Amino acid sequence: MNEGMILAAKRSHVKQIPNRSRQDVYQYFKFYIDKAIDAIREWENRVKPSNDLAHQLPINNAKNIQGNKLYDAVITSPPYINAIDYVWASKFELHWLGMVANDRDRLNLYSQEIGTERLDKKECQEIGKTGNLYLDQLIEDIYYGRYYQASKGQNKLRARVVYQYFLDMKIHFQKSFICLKQGGFYCFSRGDINKICGVNIPVAQLLTELASEIGFRQNFQFHLLLKNRKLNLPRNVNWAGIIQLDTVVFLKK
Ligand SMILES: C[S@@+](CC[C@H](N)C(=O)[O-])C[C@H]1O[C@@H](n2cnc3c(N)ncnc32)[C@H](O)[C@@H]1O
Repeated sequence: MNEGMILAAKRSHVKQIPNRSRQDVYQYFKFYIDKAIDAIREWENRVKPSNDLAHQLPINNAKNIQGNKLYDAVITSPPYINAIDYVWASKFELHWLGMVANDRDRLNLYSQEIGTERLDKKECQEIGKTGNLYLDQLIEDIYYGRYYQASKGQNKLRARVVYQYFLDMKIHFQKSFICLKQGGFYCFSRGDINKICGVNIPVAQLLTELASEIGFRQNFQFHLLLKNRKLNLPRNVNWAGIIQLDTVVFLKK
């Protein structure tokens, strides 16, 4: 199991799941499908008709975007650091959709994840340096437990997870930059602040800085207040914090 994860348990603040009939489920499903179809119709009228609009990329790792085309935009919601066990949370979907053949395939995804905790124990003893002075200071604060001393080895592991996350996101930005047309957009939506071992990490701002180092120019950004947390995992412990705002950032090549 993922060492940093607190699995969903019975929690008094979570509303009881209402009883629904099969008919209710069908009607909810239809309601949301109709909304999605309306949205797609509205969007379709806004884009120029062309035979060359959509391409499916091979299902792969965002650190290694494939395909030999240049795209108008990359629109994405990169992973949170250390907040959600995505492989666990998507377990059923991964199997139902045939995206993994067996348990081993699924468990292997952990090491490919951006934000992975499958890190070499020896490497975790070192303080990673990204070259971004502010980020490196935050990594050090986590490593030495300046704001929160976690259980044995956890501060060093968390510090390395943060370091590796930004390193991997930089690789992803580089790949995205290459596959975008000149003037193309890279848009991401990301929790504003991640609190890790008591240290507030301004992830959206740091990602914007990393992307600028690669050559992206910041176009504009806005914030969204997070009202609906789909996964609803318990995180309001004093060292982890709750992500309150999503920041949507538009970058231009
Ligand atoms: C914030 S979620 C966005 C989910 C998606 N927008 C959706 O609505 O289902 C981040 C997603 O990035 C995925 N992810 C993590 N590492 C990845 C990688 N190396 N390549 C591709 N996806 C990755 C996670 O599994 C997770 O599904």
